[in-house]
Amino acid sequence: MGKWSKKICRCLCFLLIIIMTGGCTKPAEQPIEPKLLLGFSQIGAESAWRIGNTRDIEEQAEKYVVSLMLENANQKQENQIAAIRRFIAYKVDVIAFSPIVEDGWDNVLMEAKNAGIPVILVDRDISTEKEGLTTCLIGADFYREGVMAAEYLIRKADSLSMEHVNVVEITGTENSTPMRQRQAGFMDTIANDPRINVLESIDGDFLKSRGAECMRQLLETYGDEIDVVFSHNDEMTLGALPEIEKAGFYPGENMIIISIDGGQKAIDVLKKGKINCVVECTPKLGKELMETALKLKAGESVDAVIHPTEQVFSDEQDPSTIEPRGY
Ligand code: AHR
Repeated sequence: MGKWSKKICRCLCFLLIIIMTGGCTKPAEQPIEPKLLLGFSQIGAESAWRIGNTRDIEEQAEKYVVSLMLENANQKQENQIAAIRRFIAYKVDVIAFSPIVEDGWDNVLMEAKNAGIPVILVDRDISTEKEGLTTCLIGADFYREGVMAAEYLIRKADSLSMEHVNVVEITGTENSTPMRQRQAGFMDTIANDPRINVLESIDGDFLKSRGAECMRQLLETYGDEIDVVFSHNDEMTLGALPEIEKAGFYPGENMIIISIDGGQKAIDVLKKGKINCVVECTPKLGKELMETALKLKAGESVDAVIHPTEQVFSDEQDPSTIEPRGY
């Protein structure tokens, strides 16, 4: 082949490649610049609620183009404190965390304040004498949840014409906001009803395994004196139910079961009639978190407290109308 024929041949090959690849190559995709770097310390994965909460925050971070540094503390306060210190060292724009308990945050939050990093409380509150350590709280009104649980019980006792109502309470993690507030809301509401008496409150730590242990212990101590189990979350309720059945009782029939969270598993059991009432506590806090963090970065003011609206699911309604819960 001559010199010119070789050149023509090369040109034809080149043209063929261009035609076969669509005529042009795609411009390289520009990476999207995140709007904000958010450090978030999660408590752990103790419940379906918590897992749903983590998932929601991850999904919303992606949607709002927020770069998320997520750390799981495996139920330990010291891990959360260490995570917050890492966020400070990393110079994130905003820090968010769900405090496992209310006390013991002053020092690390003072360090964040001195570094000029705003802090958002997600889900749970802290207890402190110091001013201005955090900017706002995004989470459920746990006191109201306790009130709604007690109001359901009062209506149920009325409908069954009960003269005495003995309650056992399985509480969440000691000194955590949901434990303190749910208990306070429940106790304040039943205080006006002389029929209702709490036999014992026992710490179930929001865990299924502890729910089962606590229930065994309560059944051994009080047996058929128990009319009502008020459990601070679905996980502990789901742990307690098999123990109640093993002891020969029929949950939902001869023992009233009240739970909090409203995860899919508990709602399925409510539909079977073994749970009487579930007060909703939504884990879907991610959207509010992203919007609030972006406002803080922009130097805008934010609401001090943001509570989602929540409802009650119970045997007073047609359970088939309850939409899939998503957690
Ligand atoms: O703080 C919210 C509570 O924590 C939920 O009720 C519980 O399921 C979770 O572990």
